[in-house]
Amino acid sequence: MPTPLATHLRPYPFPLACVLLAAALLHWQPPREVSAAVVVLGYLALCLLVWRPGRAKSVEATKSSDLLIAFASQGGQARELAERSARQLADAGVSSTTRTLNELDPATLTDARRLLFVVSTYGEGEAPDNAARFERRLLASHADLSGLQYTVLALGDSQYSHYCGFGRRLDDTLRSRGGEPLFDRLDVDRLDAGTLRHWQQQLGQLSGHNDFSDWQPVPYGNWRLAGRSVLNPGSSGAPVCHIRLEPLDEAAHWRAGDIAEIGPRHPRGPIEELLRRLGHDPQQRIAGESLLDILCTRRVPAEEALRELDIDALLALPQLAHREYSIASVPADDALELLVREARQADGSLGLGSGWLCRHAPAGAPIALRIRSNPGFHGPAVATPLVLIGNGTGMAGLRAHLRERAATPGSRNWLLFGERNAAQDLFLAEELQQWLACGHLQRLDLAFSRDQTDKRYVQHALRDAGEELCKWVAEGAAIHVCGSLSGMGQAVQQILVGLLGEAHLNEMAAQGRYRQDLY
Ligand SMILES: Cc1cc2nc3c(=O)[nH]c(=O)nc-3n(C[C@H](O)[C@H](O)[C@H](O)COP(=O)(O)OP(=O)(O)OC[C@H]3O[C@@H](n4cnc5c(N)ncnc54)[C@H](O)[C@@H]3O)c2cc1C
Ligand SMILES: Cc1cc2nc3c(=O)[nH]c(=O)nc-3n(C[C@H](O)[C@H](O)[C@H](O)COP(=O)(O)O)c2cc1C
Repeated sequence: MPTPLATHLRPYPFPLACVLLAAALLHWQPPREVSAAVVVLGYLALCLLVWRPGRAKSVEATKSSDLLIAFASQGGQARELAERSARQLADAGVSSTTRTLNELDPATLTDARRLLFVVSTYGEGEAPDNAARFERRLLASHADLSGLQYTVLALGDSQYSHYCGFGRRLDDTLRSRGGEPLFDRLDVDRLDAGTLRHWQQQLGQLSGHNDFSDWQPVPYGNWRLAGRSVLNPGSSGAPVCHIRLEPLDEAAHWRAGDIAEIGPRHPRGPIEELLRRLGHDPQQRIAGESLLDILCTRRVPAEEALRELDIDALLALPQLAHREYSIASVPADDALELLVREARQADGSLGLGSGWLCRHAPAGAPIALRIRSNPGFHGPAVATPLVLIGNGTGMAGLRAHLRERAATPGSRNWLLFGERNAAQDLFLAEELQQWLACGHLQRLDLAFSRDQTDKRYVQHALRDAGEELCKWVAEGAAIHVCGSLSGMGQAVQQILVGLLGEAHLNEMAAQGRYRQDLY
């Protein structure tokens, strides 16, 4: 949609004034020499007006604090990038304010002259919970956004069919309401470093300082595999391991709801054989590490492609992407615990992250791990009753909340959990029974899909307990859901909408009383 003429002319006050003056003088018909001079001046001014040296270059550096950074984040990555952006701008002397999208009012968006959006996409092309209310209000408001200059950094993953769906929708809507994009939207596929560098350059143009250093991923910390046990021996599903990790550096801090990012590794055997076939000594030392150890952390292409690479090119292969796991313990446990299910790749081999943690890493092995704060799944005040709903390894995120709340007596907690068979798949049964016996768990509802002919899942247990759930919510309870998105997360949401009404559930999400950690 074309932007209004006034928007295009705003950055050019001098040539615009000259053109208007020329037009006025010509209208008054002064002496010929004066008219000629004015026409020449007007022509030059018009040339200036028409000449646009490329959109990016025409962006004026921002000097005052009229810059707002708004983020939409489900798992904390967009929040982290928004905060990094604010720091880069601050280093260049430009102050900014950072907010979630839900904290903004579409009707007053133009109050901030310049708005930077850092937004991820969640579910199937949906807005994260801390942006969903904003999107609904934006679509309903028909606000005139001419006067707003904005840009969008859209985070996503191209393996999803609605790649960067929310970022794209947001960009289209702002543009259709008269907002002026400062730059073209950037779609970032799985935090691609090149696209993030492009974003940093845009920040450089906004701040007038391009002497920034590239954002490096937060370095992994050093942890030790201190324990591993299978929680569901004999299960008809894939094994789930209880992993216990101890920090080797200083004490680590996190809250229930936070995410552990693990640096996965290829199993050593196949990489060692590959290096030998390629004629390299796997044990040769490079900066204190063996070539084998280095290659185990890298994205290794097919063998034919590898034959073309010399040792420098091998060392330049990109790092494997991290894998994310919901933390299942609290710092007071003196260990970071995870519940990891073995995943399989299309060829039947073990997934890289789950394979490394569940099988390949030997006892005591060093594990590369960093913690990502995930405020979108942090818990409510202890006085707020909490309903925890999940399936499978979703028990991890729910258990962390139960452990965190156990530190302060008097909280009210209700767990609804689903898996396949009671005999094999009730993870951490002893702990749950103890909590039930001492009253830390006021209620425990379990659903095992394969213990009877009719499939019964956690959403069915929730539906059957609907009356009680409405009572808890009326008493101020918050709801946290953790586990698989397809199947469990969506079905639970449908039941909640049926019990509480869509508007009420949306309002709870906007207030942080309905939170999800789904994958
Ligand atoms: C917020 C969050 C929390 C999570 N918490 C947990 C948890 O508590 N416990 C848990 O067990 N898991 C959790 N997960 C899932 C976990 O992060 C991993 O996705 C899972 O362990 C599988 O990873 P992997 O490396 O073992 O498998 P991968 O090697 O990544 O393979 C997994 C699947 O992806 C496919 N695949 C891999 N690479 C590609 C590619 N390039 N193109 C197309 N397909 C590909 C494979 O075929 C396979 O089916 C969580 C995920 C998120 C986002
Ligand atoms: C459950 C789930 C659903 C997702 N759905 C999409 C999607 O539909 N489209 C997309 O481009 N990315 C999708 N993603 C990828 C995220 O947008 C991407 O990982 C992003 O970096 C997450 O940022 P956040 O931590 O700030 O939420 C999804 C990720 C998860 C875990």
